[in-house]
Amino acid sequence: MKATIKKSELTPGVPKLVMVDDTPVCVALIDGEAFAIGDTCTHSDASLSEGELNGSLIECWLHGAEFDMRTGEAVTPPATAPAKKFDVHIDGEDVTISRT
Ligand code: FES
Repeated sequence: MKATIKKSELTPGVPKLVMVDDTPVCVALIDGEAFAIGDTCTHSDASLSEGELNGSLIECWLHGAEFDMRTGEAVTPPATAPAKKFDVHIDGEDVTISRT
């Protein structure tokens, strides 16, 4: 279960939705490193990639929960459960996202 995109498809500070098979994943380039977590907010059914990225924290647009893109941890309520973390491997221009 993996997906590969081009690094040029990622804009620093702008989250991107990538489908890994049938699973929506939120991918972001932060300080030159790419991170990926499950795109569906663990509080309810909202797409995290439509939210705003502040440093390594992505804020859900629906009720304001924040998740750490580096770990998936839910750091701000109302979400409490972590988002699933995905592995990201950068090889030249290729960015491969896979399930841990
Ligand atoms: S759906 Fe994300 S905080 Fe409620």
